[in-house]
Amino acid sequence: MRGFDPEIAKGQAAAAALDLVRPGMRLGLGSGSTAARFVAFLGARVAQGLQVVGVPTSEATRLQAEALGIPLANLDEIGELDLTIDGADEFDPRLRLIKGGGGALLREKIVAAASRRMVVIADSSKAVETLGKFPLPIEVSRFGLAATRRLIAKAAQACGLGGPIELRKAPNGAAFVSDGGHYIVDCAFGAIPAPEELAARLDAIPGTVEHGLFLGLAKAVISAGPKGIEVLGNLDAGI
Ligand code: A5P
Repeated sequence: MRGFDPEIAKGQAAAAALDLVRPGMRLGLGSGSTAARFVAFLGARVAQGLQVVGVPTSEATRLQAEALGIPLANLDEIGELDLTIDGADEFDPRLRLIKGGGGALLREKIVAAASRRMVVIADSSKAVETLGKFPLPIEVSRFGLAATRRLIAKAAQACGLGGPIELRKAPNGAAFVSDGGHYIVDCAFGAIPAPEELAARLDAIPGTVEHGLFLGLAKAVISAGPKGIEVLGNLDAGI
């Protein structure tokens, strides 16, 4: 794809999402490099006088938003959110997502589920017909890691899936620890034709804190690619 720069596309998708923001909104602020662009644009609007309140989905986003002067609130104080804008590692034609590449999937899912609308921003390289090219991140309890890993393998097998389940490492080589104090395993299962079935089986494992299958949460995806901005789903759903 000559001329397609995913880094520029991320900014285009983020800028398009800014059009959905209205004064007074309670906003979920996603995590990752695409969401960071949205937060940067939002910060510029806040500096010009826009009044909104944000709930960050990670400590990284909290630091960014604070530095930009975006007013923040605790999810428990603020009630239902009007809109969450977040990135994704993959999205399919039915608005199903894989998230968690940045390790923030638990808070991202809590915030998305607490929002009337979740809109995903992504460059078009994140579009897939079938989820699973990106290894599925699963946040797990540190206690009982080996037992949980075995149960995840069994759950996958019951869905006809298999593949390496790797403990995520931080850049210093130690195990990566999420903002919530948990480990993450990355599951290279390949194509996941029935994500709902896998999700239900993973949900039933006690040591699984949360998995990166976001099903039925996104109302729309704003995707930027060589053909410009494309919208999947309904940007107005949940208003
Ligand atoms: C963070 O945990 C993730 O869910 C991110 O939203 C996802 O990894 C997308 O990140 P990028 O926008 O950096 O690709």
